[in-house]
Amino acid sequence: MVYITRRERFNAAHKLWVDEWSEEKNLEMFGKCANKNWHGHNYTLYVTVKGHPDPHTGFVIDVKKLSKMIQRLIVDRVDHSNLNLDVPFIPAGMQPTTENLVILFWKELEPELREEACELHKIQLWETENIYAEYFGE
Ligand code: NI
Repeated sequence: MVYITRRERFNAAHKLWVDEWSEEKNLEMFGKCANKNWHGHNYTLYVTVKGHPDPHTGFVIDVKKLSKMIQRLIVDRVDHSNLNLDVPFIPAGMQPTTENLVILFWKELEPELREEACELHKIQLWETENIYAEYFGE
């Protein structure tokens, strides 16, 4: 089994906030991510698929095709957006944390990858240089 990964990048705004809490409590829990006038992150997304190399092409997947799929299903819909307000597949009221985003991105990509000879293995999303979340579909 071979694992191959495509990297894509996007930037987006968000705010982590619980309406029922005071501003003080929100700031205590979410820090700068609770800034009431929003803020942005430069996200780096890694999508890993697994499979066996095709005997003719040597590819597990055509990564140009994978890139276009990620662009169409995810990047085009989140890049330069407000993740709290603008993205149809992020439910209203769901915190747009890195943890929630990897699950939502999996749900967008996985059904379309079923058409391919490979399987989706992992979604990894870096929010900053120091924090990332990973999801394996479980
Ligand atoms: Ni943030």
